[in-house]
Amino acid sequence: MAAPVKIGIIGTGGMAKAHAAEYKKIKGVALAACLDVIPGRAEEFAKTQGFAHVAKDLPELFALVDAVVIVTPDRFHAEPTIAALKAGKHVLCEKPLTVTLEEARAVAAAAQAAAKKHVIHMINFSYRRSAAMQKGIELRKAGTIGTLRHVHSYYLQSWLGTSTWGDWHSDSMLWRLQTAKGSGGVLGDLGCHILDLTTAVSGEVEAVRCNLATFPKLLKGKEVTTYQGGALDANDTAIIELQYVGGATGIVHTSRWATGHLNHLRCEVHGTQGALRFDLDEDYDAIDLYLGKNPKTASWKKKKLKPTPNNYQRFIRAIKTGTQDQPDILRGAEIQAYLEACLTSATSGKWEAIPSWKSGAARG
Ligand SMILES: NC(=O)c1ccc[n+]([C@@H]2O[C@H](COP(=O)([O-])OP(=O)(O)OC[C@H]3O[C@@H](n4cnc5c(N)ncnc54)[C@H](O)[C@@H]3O)[C@@H](O)[C@H]2O)c1
Repeated sequence: MAAPVKIGIIGTGGMAKAHAAEYKKIKGVALAACLDVIPGRAEEFAKTQGFAHVAKDLPELFALVDAVVIVTPDRFHAEPTIAALKAGKHVLCEKPLTVTLEEARAVAAAAQAAAKKHVIHMINFSYRRSAAMQKGIELRKAGTIGTLRHVHSYYLQSWLGTSTWGDWHSDSMLWRLQTAKGSGGVLGDLGCHILDLTTAVSGEVEAVRCNLATFPKLLKGKEVTTYQGGALDANDTAIIELQYVGGATGIVHTSRWATGHLNHLRCEVHGTQGALRFDLDEDYDAIDLYLGKNPKTASWKKKKLKPTPNNYQRFIRAIKTGTQDQPDILRGAEIQAYLEACLTSATSGKWEAIPSWKSGAARG
């Protein structure tokens, strides 16, 4: 029997629990080690989640594991990811890949170098687990809906207006509202997911125009723009217009103020021969298709799909088979280039070309 894949987790907060729960379900995985900067947190995590060791630093963790999962806040992704790749460890990094494109280029270069030594690298754009998204990618590549003309999609949450996921000023939520703590706002947090989902299904974008908004937060019935001396200045809403390679147009929007929506993603893609759409609030494993057969009634057909593997399963499978899967860290860097163009556009007010994610290379 093959030896189990020994997993190490860096950052043992909220999302790390979701990772641990998923690895426990996969055969041939050993929960080997974990690490956190807050004293006692990794010890508690190891005890409750069943990890064998608590490491005191990165070298100690690397010595105990085959694969590393990075679940630290966004601004602490780049350093441990590069260190793990250089140590020859397989890496699954949480999204967004980094906070800046410059950092993303360095991480991508480390991933490319490590891949030459058969190291697997992935990023956790989690909605890749949706069979609808996978089917959308397949249909677009096959040209089923003809030439792309128009795309619209959204990712909506409401935790700034409600306390469904706890208070916005709780330890684990507050860093998401402050640029000083490395937050890219809703653009970085949810924008990376919906840009990955949308462009994986519809194709490559060459320019974006973006509008960002930041609203006062509600604290005991009052509006506040700072909390305990820190500015709550990360964006809460992003409206992104897309100009596709090939001329099609699209619009993506995301917000943390979308009252009435907990965690709602939807995507609709229109081509010259038909259209596809899916709504993850309704079903991860169904897609609606309009294939131009009834132009007078525009009737759509729902197609139920077989569930597809999630990123945790894909990551372990990739390690075991030695075959890189998607979404990989290079895709994470490409999405970081989209986010960077959005930020530039939000300041300039103009359309901005997507910069290259490759260090010192032309876009391609
Ligand atoms: N893929 C998804 O759907 C999804 C969902 C939620 C969160 N996330 C991502 O997961 C990451 C973590 O989010 P979270 O909600 O768990 O945050 P969190 O604040 O709950 O936990 C982060 C943990 O990392 C620890 N930490 C900080 N710096 C560290 C360092 N240098 N080394 C080791 N540990 C360190 C903190 O002490 C904390 O325990 C973020 O990047 C977030 O965007 C992804």
